[in-house]
Amino acid sequence: MTEQIQPVRGMNDVLPAEIAAWHIIETAAREVLTAYGYQEMRVPLVERTELFQRAIGEYTDVVEKEMYTFVDQGGESLTLRPEGTAGVMRALISNGMLRGQRHKLWCTGPMFRHERPQKGRYRQFHQVSVEAVGFPGPDIDIELIALTARLWKRLGIERVRLEINSLGTPESRRAYREKLVEYLRAHHDELDADSRRRLEGNPLRVLDSKNPDMRALIEAAPVLTDHLDGESREHFQGLCAALEALGIPFRVNPRLVRGLDYYSRTVFEWITDALGAQDAVCSGGRYDGLIGQLGGESTPGIGFAMGIERLVALLTQAGAPAAEPTADVYIVVSGERASAYGLQLAERLRDALPERRVELNLGGGNFKTQFRRADRSGAAVAVILGEDELARGVAAVKPLRHDAGQSESPLPDLAAAIQTALATAVHT
Ligand code: HAM
Repeated sequence: MTEQIQPVRGMNDVLPAEIAAWHIIETAAREVLTAYGYQEMRVPLVERTELFQRAIGEYTDVVEKEMYTFVDQGGESLTLRPEGTAGVMRALISNGMLRGQRHKLWCTGPMFRHERPQKGRYRQFHQVSVEAVGFPGPDIDIELIALTARLWKRLGIERVRLEINSLGTPESRRAYREKLVEYLRAHHDELDADSRRRLEGNPLRVLDSKNPDMRALIEAAPVLTDHLDGESREHFQGLCAALEALGIPFRVNPRLVRGLDYYSRTVFEWITDALGAQDAVCSGGRYDGLIGQLGGESTPGIGFAMGIERLVALLTQAGAPAAEPTADVYIVVSGERASAYGLQLAERLRDALPERRVELNLGGGNFKTQFRRADRSGAAVAVILGEDELARGVAAVKPLRHDAGQSESPLPDLAAAIQTALATAVHT
């Protein structure tokens, strides 16, 4: 037998039986974002490698070791997007959309990171990524967090909690960084290999270490929030006070530094204890310097992204949502002429009932087989068309999910008869 081709590690198929949860999350996100005035946009999956190097930072895990980078036929170094923010900011600049304008935007789709795959961590994963550009905050910071809290409520997701922190301005962070480096150098012998490497390039990331042996050292390190500049402190206090006023519980986590370099001031994460090690379901923060860094006119920005796979896992933990039916109406046909006519009838019904899913039995089969397929399709109503019905110019309409008897309808009135039957039908 010919050898099968294996799927790529860390890249998942989403099967029809699993898609209902995806749709629930995507629909809820779209509705909540629309209600807050966010517009969808789409950007390429592939960008110049330099974009991510400049936006995310040379010394981040993402850029150092996780990017899917390749040289294309034209000799250009391109990269599959590891996240959405850099591409959206590039698009705003390329399309001349800044110039003092403000934008509330979102996009969704796959992202690619060559991480070690495990539950909740994949090499192709999906985000809903949200960006607000041109708002200095903190009002927008608060609104964005309120938006996410509303989304969890809409989805019935309860096991999430909010952590926030402020990274200050690049200047105050630089001053803090010096203090931190001094402290870490003094404890150089206790640092693991990863932290020693980070100490040189990006010492703040040492605070993000997941190594339990590093915990005590990190606990005792100088705290960023103690070194904030006045304006950042005020910004952060405004955020905390407003979250309290809105009744959104949060914890200030001074060790929350995030893995991407473009952040300044507010950073936040929604964490769950229900998914094991991969506990962040939604993370983001303010990136006031990013657009300038990419060559655009300096404009403040803030955003977040949520991991759809992780939200799907949270949603299905309480019981997977039922698979979506493929049909509302299933047409059962018997006999050669009726089968041929069935194709026309199905098209006519799709014209007349554009909101309904109309499935025609294809490939023949006796009544028993066809009704089994009708049942599996989830249809609430079957239309039965045999040679006898066709000769008389009628079709039978049979509710499938309750006991009401079957009725007959002249073919020209069939769409209306189906609507009536569907209106009284109960989906199981
Ligand atoms: P991030 O924290 O790298 O931020 O990713 C955001 C979310 O994507 C995470 O909280 C997690 O739910 C999900 N995620 C990340 N990596 C994986 C993975 N390997 N497998 C499954 N899910 C994953 C960003 O990407 C920023 N662009 C967010 C942002 C937007 N900040 C400002 N605007």
